[in-house]
Amino acid sequence: MARQTSRFVCQACGASFTKWSGRCEGCGSWNTIQEEAIEAAAPRGLGRRRGRSIAFAGLQGVSDTARRRPTGIAEFDRVCGGGIVPGSGILVGGDPGIGKSTLLLQVAAALAREAPCAYISGEEAVDQVRMRAERLGLESASIQLAVATAVRDIVSTLDRPDDLGLLIIDSIQTMFVDTLESAPGTVAQVRASAQALIGLAKRRGFTVVLVGHVTKEGLIAGPKVLEHMVDTVLYFEGDTSHQFRVLRAVKNRFGPTDEIGVFEMTDAGLKEVANPSALFLSDQRDDVTGASVFAGIEGSRPLLVEIQSLIAPSHLPTPRRAVVGWDAGRLAMILAVLEARCGLSLSGTEVYLNVAGGLRIGEPAADLAVAAALVSAARGVPVPPKTVVFGEIGLSGEIRAVSRTEARLKEAAKLGFTRAIAPQPSPPAELRKRGRAEGAMEIVGIAHVRDLVEPFGAERSRGEHGTGQAARRTREVASHG
Ligand code: TYD
Ligand code: MG
Repeated sequence: MARQTSRFVCQACGASFTKWSGRCEGCGSWNTIQEEAIEAAAPRGLGRRRGRSIAFAGLQGVSDTARRRPTGIAEFDRVCGGGIVPGSGILVGGDPGIGKSTLLLQVAAALAREAPCAYISGEEAVDQVRMRAERLGLESASIQLAVATAVRDIVSTLDRPDDLGLLIIDSIQTMFVDTLESAPGTVAQVRASAQALIGLAKRRGFTVVLVGHVTKEGLIAGPKVLEHMVDTVLYFEGDTSHQFRVLRAVKNRFGPTDEIGVFEMTDAGLKEVANPSALFLSDQRDDVTGASVFAGIEGSRPLLVEIQSLIAPSHLPTPRRAVVGWDAGRLAMILAVLEARCGLSLSGTEVYLNVAGGLRIGEPAADLAVAAALVSAARGVPVPPKTVVFGEIGLSGEIRAVSRTEARLKEAAKLGFTRAIAPQPSPPAELRKRGRAEGAMEIVGIAHVRDLVEPFGAERSRGEHGTGQAARRTREVASHG
């Protein structure tokens, strides 16, 4: 049988197949599979040649993390776990146009005061990068700037004893290794280029940041195929129609992965938002139905976020459910719990859920806030004013305690909220007292979703809006605590 000379590789997840198909069996993406030439046959086994012996070391000793270097952009450093680690590789992924180049130019400029930084662009001309620097007011930063795409040239230039602190490669999908025949941007090229550049960074002790575009079309390899090769994976996300951007760590060998960095895109680049807690609250009005305020925790910081929902009658056999900023599976679960445990039937209606400000929440503690928004929309009764909601919902409808209750309450009190709908046994009595003393926070402890649904009143007939009486009752019951 003739040897196969090509294989079919999914550009989204890197899975490889012997035949082409429209949909990748690995990750389920459509139209992402491309033919790639199989490079020089892999040698079989090890052969006879003896290798050198390797040296073992103990667990104690000076590690690179101890030499962690803050860049000076606090939100970036926070997500990296306190600063960048020499000899490590960082992948910064994100949609095109979200602000990756802007962020990294700012990071390089900030670090350049301490250590030499190089910025290699494969996408833009030197002039374009200069223009951006001018716009950011960074034209005087001492960054070594180059336009290059050949990894061999980059490695030859930088493989020398040097005190380079940071190398930025914008983007990895434009780089190529000349020993491979595949086009730049394919899985094979992206992996080989990344490997060579990360190897160089480890050898020479600088940090390399690889920019990776997230692609939906699958014509170029996504950053996913690189995640296992780097030490830290950061995603820069947000909605291009909002000015807020969130930098999130999804993997970090040198720090926590639940931290976020919050930035605001302005005319003069990305501005750090050191205290983001009020950022994701829209202008609140007391009489709006279908909205609740979630007292969340992102990484080490509390964050208040508005959750909005809309429920509309549907004529479709399978009514639409659309979620922005939260997990669709989790929404389905909450709808099922509301139906099974409280008799609130939403199966014939369209359900839309949106997290305000373009944020994405992953915390199960948002369950109760989502349920409150849904019930409020279904009943046409607003959630009581100046109220935050948090708590995890179990399948039997019970409300589970969540972590860092005190921090959530404190932040809510700081922002002028006076009431929290929260899990029952926790916060403990002592905390309740303290909460009152600190910010006059009243806690409405609930043990089951039923306790949440009941105060919103009886089911309204379709199209009819909640009565003022029901709303009043909600307030009475809620304020009863
Ligand atoms: P960019 O960093 O080029 O995105 P990426 O590298 O992720 O593709 O930023 C793109 C957008 O940011 C662009 O649409 C313009 C906007 N922008 C600002 O709003 N203010 C600024 O100061 C800069 C430099 C860019
Ligand atoms: Mg860019």
